[in-house]
Amino acid sequence: MGILEGKVIILAGVGGIGDSLARYYHAEGAKLVFGDIEGDHAAELGKEIDPDGLRALGTYLDGSEETSIQALIDSALSRHGRLDGFHCNFAIVPDGLLPEGLDIPMEMFDASVHVNLRGYFLCSRLAVPAMIETGGGAMVYTSSSAATTASQTRFAYAMCKAGIQALMRNVACRYGPQGIRANAIAPGIIPHYKFRPGTEKFIDDAVQDTLMKTRHGNPDDIAAMGAFLLSDLSGFISGQTIAVDGGQTHRP
Ligand SMILES: NC(=O)c1ccc[n+]([C@@H]2O[C@H](COP(=O)([O-])OP(=O)(O)OC[C@H]3O[C@@H](n4cnc5c(N)ncnc54)[C@H](O)[C@@H]3O)[C@@H](O)[C@H]2O)c1
Repeated sequence: MGILEGKVIILAGVGGIGDSLARYYHAEGAKLVFGDIEGDHAAELGKEIDPDGLRALGTYLDGSEETSIQALIDSALSRHGRLDGFHCNFAIVPDGLLPEGLDIPMEMFDASVHVNLRGYFLCSRLAVPAMIETGGGAMVYTSSSAATTASQTRFAYAMCKAGIQALMRNVACRYGPQGIRANAIAPGIIPHYKFRPGTEKFIDDAVQDTLMKTRHGNPDDIAAMGAFLLSDLSGFISGQTIAVDGGQTHRP
C-alpha cells in the first residue's frame, strides 16, 4: 500500500522537479491529474507513467488562468469524483539570470507576480472549496529557500516565494476547521535535467552550503516530502514551511 493509495491528487506544474513529483505520487498509489503550460510534455509524461490512463492524466494547464485551473479540477472530479490534494509547483523565473536587482524591467516583475503568486492564489481559491465539498484535503505549495535568504538577484521570484508562505498560512488558518491542511516545501538547490551545462560549480557550491556537505538535493527529495504532506501521515501538520535543503537555511 502506497501512502497516497486512493487519494485524488492534482499536481499543477511538472518539469524538472515536477516530473519526479508525478512519478512518485503515482507510485505511492495516487489517482493523479496534472497539468503544465508545456501541455505536450505533460501529456507524454502521463502516458509514460500510466499507459492505460486510468490513474494518471497529464494535460495543458495555465496555472495563472482561472478557467484553465477550473478545467483541471473539473477533470479530476469527473474522472474520480473527489479531490484530496492539490500541489502548486509551477513557476517562472524571468529575472533569474539578470544582475539588475531593483532595475529589472517591470514587465518581468509583473509576469513573475502574475504566475508565481497570483496563480497560486487562484489555484487555492478554486481547489479549496472543491476539497471541502468532498470531505477536506491537503494543499501543498512549492516555495523556495529564496524566500528566507538574501540575494543580489531574483527580487521578484524571492518576493513571490515568500508570499506563497503567507498564502499557505492563511489557507491553513481560515480553512483548517473545514478539513483543509496547508503546508509549503522550501527546496534548496535541486539540480535536474533542465539545469544548463556550466552550472557544475554552482551545484558544487550548493553542496558546500548544506550541513552534510556530501551531496546535492534531488527531485525525489522534494517528492518524498510532497507525498508525506499530501498523505494522512502528516495529519497533524499544517501551516508549516518545511525546508528540504540539506540544512542550508537552518534556523530555530
Ligand atoms: N530546482 C531548484 O533548484 C528549485 C529550488 C527552489 C525552489 N524551486 C521551485 O520548485 C518548483 C519547480 O521548479 P523546477 O526547478 O522543477 O523548474 P521547472 O522550470 O523545471 O518547472 C517549472 C514548471 O512550471 C511550468 N510552468 C511555468 N509557468 C506555468 C503556468 N503559467 N502554468 C502551468 N505551468 C507553468 C513550466 O513549464 C515548468 O514545467 C518551482 O516552484 C520552483 O520555484 C526549485
